[in-house]
Amino acid sequence: MTTVLITGANRGLGLEFVRQYQNDGAEVIACCRNPETAEELKRLATSSHGRTTLYQMDVSKPKEILSVSKELNDCSIDYLINNAGILGTKFEEPMKGAFGSVDYESWEETLRVNVLGPFRVCEAFVNQVSQSQNRLIVFISTHMSSITSLTEGGFYPYRSSKAALNLLVKGLSIDLKEHDIRTLSFHPGWVKTDMGTNAAPIEIDDSISGMRKVISEYTPPKTGEFINYDGTPYPW
Ligand SMILES: NC(=O)c1ccc[n+]([C@@H]2O[C@H](COP(=O)([O-])OP(=O)(O)OC[C@H]3O[C@@H](n4cnc5c(N)ncnc54)[C@H](OP(=O)(O)O)[C@@H]3O)[C@@H](O)[C@H]2O)c1
Repeated sequence: MTTVLITGANRGLGLEFVRQYQNDGAEVIACCRNPETAEELKRLATSSHGRTTLYQMDVSKPKEILSVSKELNDCSIDYLINNAGILGTKFEEPMKGAFGSVDYESWEETLRVNVLGPFRVCEAFVNQVSQSQNRLIVFISTHMSSITSLTEGGFYPYRSSKAALNLLVKGLSIDLKEHDIRTLSFHPGWVKTDMGTNAAPIEIDDSISGMRKVISEYTPPKTGEFINYDGTPYPW
């Protein structure tokens, strides 16, 4: 049976990853900051007959990451999906991410959650991934990180965090070869979630089914690439 670990599983893209992998028969390790209040996720887990389990994991809290990893010591994880992320600023408040008025505290928090968090999760779960059949670590990045296609400024905290994340994806594709682990970075599309807002043109289920198709076809020796949710390559 395929086992998938998802961070930020309580809403948005993470919740839909849980729903679709669960419907597909996978075993899902759903991690989020507050399982107690994650009503929709709890409903999904209840309907899964024990295949979806909830774990408390704030990716900016090393102790919580290590504690889940310890609890799942003997588990093998086919797909580790680093989905949890923050924008750092709101789309309605773009000036907080603009040159001259950046909120530095929020920038530091954005780096902790979007960069250090996924890296820590990778370090903590490398053994569980290396024991699995598929051995793939997925990172949810964004087109806003792309240096090649950048045509406007602003959103420095978010853009810089996800550009750094992409660097990790490429670097880890080299470092983790010795564990036979591969990596993949996604632009999920501009999607209707709390972060993407209702103005986004793409529905959550389309983004997730697109990424799941890419993941299922991302077989060895493929590794270390940046890909759009529809399968087309994205420029770094
Ligand atoms: N939606 C888009 O258009 C879009 C586009 C490009 C990239 N992305 C990326 O896709 C991923 C998911 O975004 P989304 O649209 O689903 O956003 P969302 O609706 O705002 O959901 C964000 C998720 O991340 C979790 N999270 C935030 N900080 C966390 C932390 N410290 N530890 C653990 N979980 C944390 C949230 O949990 P809480 O409920 O506890 O806050 C929530 O589950 C993000 O990495 C985002 O950057 C989204």
